[in-house]
This record gives sequence, C-alpha cells and structure tokens, in this order.
Amino acid sequence: MIFRQLLEPVSSTYTYLLGCPETGQAVLVDPVVNSMDRDLQVLQALGLRLAFTLDTHIHADHITAALELKKRTGSRIAAPAIDRLPCVDFGMEEGRPLQVGGVAIEGMHTPGHTDGHFAYVVGERVFTGDALLIDGCGRTDFQNGDATVLYHSVTQKLFALADETLVYPAHDYTGRHVSSIAQEKSRNPRLGGCKSLAEFQQIMATLNLPYPKFIDYAVPGNRQCGTCPADLPQELQKYCGPMAESPQG
Ligand SMILES: [Fe+2]
Repeated sequence: MIFRQLLEPVSSTYTYLLGCPETGQAVLVDPVVNSMDRDLQVLQALGLRLAFTLDTHIHADHITAALELKKRTGSRIAAPAIDRLPCVDFGMEEGRPLQVGGVAIEGMHTPGHTDGHFAYVVGERVFTGDALLIDGCGRTDFQNGDATVLYHSVTQKLFALADETLVYPAHDYTGRHVSSIAQEKSRNPRLGGCKSLAEFQQIMATLNLPYPKFIDYAVPGNRQCGTCPADLPQELQKYCGPMAESPQG
C-alpha cells in the first residue's frame, strides 16, 4: 500500500493518503478543504486517482474536502452511515469494509467524541480520528459527546487491537506523527495505565476547554459533506483557504 501522512496546519489535522499500487486507486481519510490542492498534487505525483474520500466523523474544527474533491475529481464520499448524511455515497458500517483496489478499510464504531464517530483499521494501522490521540483524546463536551461512551470505545474496542497496531490520529498539536496501541494503553495520560472510568470522567469534566471557535460554521458545513459558509467572519476565512478567494483571482 502507498501511504502518506499529510498535515493541514490551520487545524493541525492529519489527512491520510492510502493508495493501491496495482490499480492506482486512492482514498483520502479526513481531507481538509483548505489543503485540497496540496493533496491533489501529492496524488498526482504518486500517479494515483482519487476513488474515495473517507471521514472519521462530522468535524467541528475544519471543513472536510469531501464535496469539493468529488466535484473536482469525481471521487465518491464515504462516511459513517450512522450520521445519515444525504450527500454520502458509501455509508461505513462495522463488518462492511470499504474496498479501494487492494486496500480494505474496516470501520469500527467508536462513539464518545461524537456519537457517529468511526475509526478505520487498515492492516497494521488504525486511523483513530478524534477518539484516541497520541497521549490524549478528543473532547466530549459537544456533538453528543459523552466521556463514558468514549471510555468504552477506547478501552474495549481500540485497546482490543493488537498491541503493535500503529495509531494514526486525526490531529496532533505538537508535531508527533504516530503511536501504537501498546504505547497508548500504557502511557496515555487520560486512558492508559488502566485508568478507571471514574478517573477518566473526572479528567474530562475538568478540562475547562474554550468554546470551539469554528464549530458553528464547521458542523453545518460538514453535514453537507463540506460546504464553506458564505458568511464566514474575516478571522475565520483561513479555514476555507482558497475557497474564500474570488473566482476572478
Ligand atoms: Fe473532531
């Protein structure tokens, strides 16, 4: 499999490119609209054709490139079926892998950050979205998030994967790239070291995180598979990057 980890710096999102060398088909996991042109350049340099985009969940911190990439390349949109978005072409469900050439992507429902959140297992790698980050996890105070539910998703589902499985998160804010199930199980400060449910609930209840500054635009935009709002305030226009530029140039 051809594999690339691509960083979108505005929201510190990792987009993952998975390509099948035999068929030339590729999928982008969690592509971001403002780095779409870069992602297309990487695909082109690798001689790959985008068959699918695949989102882990309805993001609150960036706009998915799914719809724009579909318009540009004819790629199809895959996302968790449970969110019932009418713009999705392939609804991911457990036990129904997405096959892109020789690449088989297994969905794993991992709610708690959002209720529809999915992680994706591809061979020795797991793309954990915001359910499990390196030394962290996604917040649980918006989008039907629930700390108890996230605890069970991580400890019973993700931590049940083989210890050597490589963990590729949807974000890292300090430049880390990859972890493993064994490492997160042993040293994740929120969920590792056999933290109890009560300990995790206490940690998540006392994070005191600020209100997500882009959520009110991102969530409705992503429920349409990635539509940049027309009324974006000046300070948020970087989230739509080239999309916000005038067509006249
Ligand atoms: Fe998220």
